[in-house]
Amino acid sequence: MALIHKGDLGMDSRLKKVVDKIQDSKLRKKIAQFVENPTSEIEGKTYKGAPLETSPAGLSHHHNYPGGYIEHVTATAEIALTLCDVVEKIYHSKVSRDLVLAGVLLHDVLKPITYMEKENGTLRKSPLAERLDHLTLIVSEIVRRGFPLHLVHIVCAHHGYRYGPIGPRTTEALVCHLADITDSKLNGEVLRAAQYLAREATGKELRQITGQEAFQIVHAKTMKGWEGVKKTLEKTRQKRYTN
Ligand SMILES: [Fe+2]
Ligand SMILES: [Fe+2]
Repeated sequence: MALIHKGDLGMDSRLKKVVDKIQDSKLRKKIAQFVENPTSEIEGKTYKGAPLETSPAGLSHHHNYPGGYIEHVTATAEIALTLCDVVEKIYHSKVSRDLVLAGVLLHDVLKPITYMEKENGTLRKSPLAERLDHLTLIVSEIVRRGFPLHLVHIVCAHHGYRYGPIGPRTTEALVCHLADITDSKLNGEVLRAAQYLAREATGKELRQITGQEAFQIVHAKTMKGWEGVKKTLEKTRQKRYTN
């Protein structure tokens, strides 16, 4: 998994689109500054990871390929905004889209500093991640940076009651948590299904499958059966070879 450092090219345009949806200019500026330079400061030392545009959003369960981070955040933002529509249009209640979007943008933004590249190009946990998980890192960093408590709660509760230090206690936190797990599951389940189909169809593992490739393989199985899977795998291999 090559995490090419492209240098400082500013914020990825797909992330910028999500940041630009935040109406409150003060909050938008503060989020933009952090997303442009996602670092954590501990004992005077600044930790910086791979650029967000090439980072995965996980090492195993979901979005575990270069570019996975951006896909996860943009997909989670779409799902979260749809949930906000439901809260308002169906349940006639209120929800702050600004805080939901800010929560989505921040919730995994320090994941890259928890990864490091091995000599063979694959990733493992960084020495920092052997001491602190990404949730503790992001919560402590946004407290240090003076973000509002309401937003700190959204980020702190994003793993839900079962896997986090606190469950969602606000509508915004619940929306952010549900959007996060929905996209993680959507991506993770399709990756696993595509890996299984590739193994069954060819007897070989398809190394580091992306979300887009996985959806194509699963769709081919649905429409054209095992022949479709084989053809799609062949196209995927050729595309990888020529890129
Ligand atoms: Fe997380
Ligand atoms: Fe996430």
